Amino acid sequence: MPRTIPQTHEILAATRLEHVRYAIRDLAVLAEDLTRQGKQILPLNIGDPVSFDFQTPAHLIEAAAKAMRDGYNGYAPSLGVKPALEAIRAEAERKGIRNVQSVFVTAGVSEAIDIVMTALLEPHQNVLTPLPDYPLYDAILAKLSAQPNPYRLDESNDWQPDVEHIESLITKDTRALVVINPNNPTGAVYSRDTLEKIVEVARRHNLVIFSDEIYAKLILDGEPHISIASLAPDVPVITFGGLSKEYLAPGWRVAWGIFSGDPAVITPYVQGIHKLLRARLSANHPLQYAIPAALNGSHDHVTATVNKLRRRRDLVMAWSQRTRHVSCVSPRGAFYAFPRLDIPESDDTFVRGLLAEAQVLVVNGGGFGQEEGTRHIRIVFLPPETILEQALDKITTYLEKHWP
Ligand SMILES: Cc1ncc(COP(=O)(O)O)c(C=O)c1O
Repeated sequence: MPRTIPQTHEILAATRLEHVRYAIRDLAVLAEDLTRQGKQILPLNIGDPVSFDFQTPAHLIEAAAKAMRDGYNGYAPSLGVKPALEAIRAEAERKGIRNVQSVFVTAGVSEAIDIVMTALLEPHQNVLTPLPDYPLYDAILAKLSAQPNPYRLDESNDWQPDVEHIESLITKDTRALVVINPNNPTGAVYSRDTLEKIVEVARRHNLVIFSDEIYAKLILDGEPHISIASLAPDVPVITFGGLSKEYLAPGWRVAWGIFSGDPAVITPYVQGIHKLLRARLSANHPLQYAIPAALNGSHDHVTATVNKLRRRRDLVMAWSQRTRHVSCVSPRGAFYAFPRLDIPESDDTFVRGLLAEAQVLVVNGGGFGQEEGTRHIRIVFLPPETILEQALDKITTYLEKHWP
């Protein structure tokens, strides 16, 4: 029998991808179209410091280049190279994290998130994720056919997590809770009191905490950053850190996870994570040698980065205070502001209009999820002051033109 050729040759993507959204990069595609038409875009959308006036520290580049010259160009051990793992353990100790059961190196925090959620979740289970959220968490949950269980970040309380809301959402299928501190997209830094309450909830309900601390050293107002794992050696916490933001090397795709908690409780899960780490062979080998250089070496670049970011944050805040239709909780960490817009149209329509008319690119609050009825935009305040001021002025002009 001859094989019948189907009518359509279209190869459809899996339906679960319908839930995968990544507004940050999706909008960049629209901006590229405008650039092709010869328009110059002011980009306040992507959190890549190296695309502005920040450079990867020379001692990290030297450590990575040396590793290549020294021949570390084969696969690495699956969990990571020894000097990197030792440096990460020492960093965990400095953060006050005790009871560390495993540390591992990954291709960005992105891969760490993917691996720890894949190793934990059955399709029907859910994870408490912040709202607004960094969208990768939801994207990976969609990939696993697991469910996000969004909890409120409270704008009226400096964007701190609403812990009562968290507890009210827990079901028998809730396995974990995501804490992003300092936060993307709000710039909030969480108080000890909030973190202690979150730990209590996790302890009561047997949840794993995923603590995304990729911005931990980028604290703008000098307060201490508290790693939630340091408050609870008994609770299972996986703390993420990496070279992308604090060490200004996002393109290297180097990050790590620190898994702390009671070994009697977490050992099977640790083994599951290790199994997946072995299955994907290893993270970048030579670039892992930049981890000890980063964690144990000079941090002068952090001071310089924070000083620049503080000035730029202050510019955004001054703008938000003098601009009609805009209000903003002051960011205290990372390099994002999440101003609220008081306008009669959706933030999605707003960002598209702003891009088309004023060539300023920001991400709409809906791209991160936001409370019903509210409208926000996320502004990345990495650009140098002159560019930032120009972009903010254009947003003001756009607002005044449409809502005088
Ligand atoms: C909160 C948060 N987690 C993780 C990531 C991804 O980090 P990486 O470059 O290490 O994959 C980002 C990047 O913007 C982020 O904002």
